[in-house]
Amino acid sequence: MFRPRPDARPATVTVLVEDTEVTVPAGASAAAALLLAGLVAMRETAVSGTPRGPLCLMGVCFDCLAEIDGVPNRQACMVPVAPGMRIQRQRGAREAMR
Ligand code: FES
Repeated sequence: MFRPRPDARPATVTVLVEDTEVTVPAGASAAAALLLAGLVAMRETAVSGTPRGPLCLMGVCFDCLAEIDGVPNRQACMVPVAPGMRIQRQRGAREAMR
């Protein structure tokens, strides 16, 4: 008979974007979750506060920096979503993590 493959992922994942539940396709990036939540401006620049949104979606431009599960300065386009993940827009400069 037919059975799901043991490594099959659920079709969707629910994450928290700015404390609001958003359901996204499994395997999508945190940047995609922010975009699906309607948040095109994901961060503000540290000096002028200019809003920035993802440009390359492949880890090159760093315009998608976000706070993910409490860790700032993550490239949201390079982080796959996980159930219950907390994603926040990043505003201004952040401290470097040690
Ligand atoms: S969108 Fe360019 S590094 Fe993420």
